[in-house]
Amino acid sequence: MSQDFLPIKGYDHVEFYVGNAKQAAHFFDKTFGFRPLAKRGLETGSRDLASYVMEQGKVRFVFTSAYGPDSEVARHCALHGDGVKAIALEVPDARSAIREAKARGATVLKPTTAATDEHGELVTCEIKYAGDTIFRFVERKNYKGPFAPGYRAITAHGSPPVGLAAIDHIVTNVHLGEMNFWARWYEEVLGFKNLLSFTDKDISTEYSALMSKVMENGTGKCKFPINEPAEGKKKSQIDEYLDYYRGPGVQHIAMNTADICQTVRELRERDIDFLRVPDSYYDYQKDRVGQIAEEWNQLRELGILVDRDDDGYLLQIFTAPVQDRPTLFFEVIERHGSRGFGLGNFKALFVSIEHEQALRGNL
Ligand code: FE2
Repeated sequence: MSQDFLPIKGYDHVEFYVGNAKQAAHFFDKTFGFRPLAKRGLETGSRDLASYVMEQGKVRFVFTSAYGPDSEVARHCALHGDGVKAIALEVPDARSAIREAKARGATVLKPTTAATDEHGELVTCEIKYAGDTIFRFVERKNYKGPFAPGYRAITAHGSPPVGLAAIDHIVTNVHLGEMNFWARWYEEVLGFKNLLSFTDKDISTEYSALMSKVMENGTGKCKFPINEPAEGKKKSQIDEYLDYYRGPGVQHIAMNTADICQTVRELRERDIDFLRVPDSYYDYQKDRVGQIAEEWNQLRELGILVDRDDDGYLLQIFTAPVQDRPTLFFEVIERHGSRGFGLGNFKALFVSIEHEQALRGNL
């Protein structure tokens, strides 16, 4: 293993900049079953921004919106629509993390800042990532509060959880020709390594193609695939994203569950839309994937996809975009040994994505 000059404990949170944080928080409560954990706003002395912290398992999402037109949050939303602003990683030592990252070429957007309240001290810093997206390092070993200084705990119950346990991976879309730049950036600046690479030979349909490199940190806990569009007959789904997000950004966040059938059944009952593959997919996959613990009929009924590699198999499903722009969506994944990303499903999936893209008039 390469020397870990930037040790990472895991994902800390993902912060979304949205037009209406109150409604976004409500949506993630009622549909995905996230529990309101903490908030900041006018009543806590935050005059410019309102933020809601939502939690399920180890997944923590923060939804932030602006009270006025002149903030970076408002500008971000006007340009990109609702989307991911910050990928926050928990580190044992934020000062060391930013020093190491900076020495290796990171653009520092916010130097190490210690915030304190009665619960202790939280140290954070931020570096630039693709487009307007940033990485945030969070050191919370001396902090015992619900989230961060300035936030007040919320005591609301929220809707029942759906079994989402942790973030599995976070995928970024970048422009044609930029994937290798960012793969190197992960290697050089963050000390990550390349776990897998997919070329347009692996991932292509009749119409469009994409290339992907998966980067992971030293412990393998944090995984970041990077997609770039490849030349195809028509506009690729990555190009569609880049057009509507107005640049590179987070395409999807995958979350683990220990029981994907139960999670998806629950999500479907709460009106979450998932991508559908044709029924013929299951006849074909049954032979390819072989023995699995789940009932094929149930997977077919729920639209869950299956893939197998040398290490085991995985079950996965993708939601439709969760905002009007065809940009961010979510993946639910259950791993049985496989460390892959469902390569065997890509083709069936992309045909399904392109069908939706055609309905939007964007293919
Ligand atoms: Fe994924």
